[in-house]
Amino acid sequence: MARAGFRSPWSLVPWAAALLLVLSVPRALALPEICIQCPGSVQNLSEVALYCKRTPELMLQGHCCLNGKGTILGLDLQNCSLKDPGPNFAQAHNAVIIDLQANPLKGDLANTFRGFTQLQTLILPQGVSCPGGINAWDIVTFYISNQTCQGQRNLCNSTGDPETCPENGSCVPVGPGLLQCVCADGFHGYKCMRQGSFSLLMFFGILGSTTLSISLLLWGTQRRKAKTS
Ligand SMILES: *[C@@H]1O[C@H](CO)[C@@H](O)[C@H](O)[C@H]1NC(C)=O
Ligand SMILES: *[C@@H]1O[C@H](CO)[C@@H](O)[C@H](O)[C@H]1NC(C)=O
Ligand SMILES: *[C@@H]1O[C@H](CO)[C@@H](O)[C@H](O)[C@H]1NC(C)=O
Ligand SMILES: *[C@@H]1O[C@H](CO)[C@@H](O)[C@H](O)[C@H]1NC(C)=O
Ligand SMILES: *[C@@H]1O[C@H](CO)[C@@H](O)[C@H](O)[C@H]1NC(C)=O
Repeated sequence: MARAGFRSPWSLVPWAAALLLVLSVPRALALPEICIQCPGSVQNLSEVALYCKRTPELMLQGHCCLNGKGTILGLDLQNCSLKDPGPNFAQAHNAVIIDLQANPLKGDLANTFRGFTQLQTLILPQGVSCPGGINAWDIVTFYISNQTCQGQRNLCNSTGDPETCPENGSCVPVGPGLLQCVCADGFHGYKCMRQGSFSLLMFFGILGSTTLSISLLLWGTQRRKAKTS
C-alpha cells in the first residue's frame, strides 16, 4: 500500500536525464534575440533573402541569414519600427549584409557598427548617413526611399598616413570609419612608448586598489563604531 508509492531516488535519474534533454534541445536551436524580436517575416525579394538564397550553405531563419554554425551573416530588419538598433544588435557583428530601411532611425550610427568589420552592404532609411561617413565606403547610393553603403573601406590602408599609429603600434580596422592602434608585443601605454610586461603592472594595480578600498572601508566602519560607543 504505502510501499507502492515509494521510489528510490535513483529511479528518478532517467527522468531527470530526459527532462534535461528536452530542455537543452530547444536551447541549442534557439535563434539569437536580434533574429526574432521583430514580428513578421522577411520578404522574398529583399536583398538579404536573395543573398541567403544565392549561397547554398546559408539558411534564412527569422530575420537572419545564418551559416551552419549559427553565425549571423545577414540581417533584415526593414520596416520594424526601430528608433535605434537596440542592445541585441551587436549579435550581428559578423554580418556581411544588413537592411535597416523603412525604420524611423534617429541619431548617429557610427558607434552602433563598432566591430562590424565584415559588413559589405548596408541599406539604410533615406536621410540616415552611412556610418563613418562617405569616405568609409567604396560606393554610397541614394534612392528615393533608402540609401545603400557598399564596400567597407579599410581606413588603415586608404589613409596612407604612416603617422596614424605610433612607431611601435599597428593599425587595425574595427568597423566602418573606425580604426584602432594596437601596441606591438612588449609595448603598452600612451603612444605605445612604454616597454615591459603590462599584465604584471595591471595585477599590482588591481591588488593595490582593492587593498586600499578595503582599508578605507574598515577605517570608516571602525570610526563610526568609535563615535557611537
Ligand atoms: C515566397 O517564397 C515562398 C517559397 O519560396 C512562397 O511559398 C511564397 O508564396 C513567396 N511569397 C511571395 C510573396 O512571393
Ligand atoms: C510595413 O509593415 C506594415 C505592416 O506592419 C505594412 O502595412 C507596410 O506595407 C510595410 N511597409 C513596407 C514599406 O514594407
Ligand atoms: C531602395 O529604394 C528603391 C526605391 O526608391 C527601390 O527600388 C530599391 O529596391 C530599394 N533598395 C533596396 C535594397 O531595397
Ligand atoms: C590592407 O592592408 C593589408 C595588409 O597591409 C592587406 O592584407 C589588405 O588586403 C589591404 N586591404 C585593402 C582593402 O587594400
Ligand atoms: C620602438 O621600439 C624600438 C625597439 O624595438 C625602440 O628603439 C624605439 O624607441 C621605440 N619607439 C618608441 C616611439 O617608443
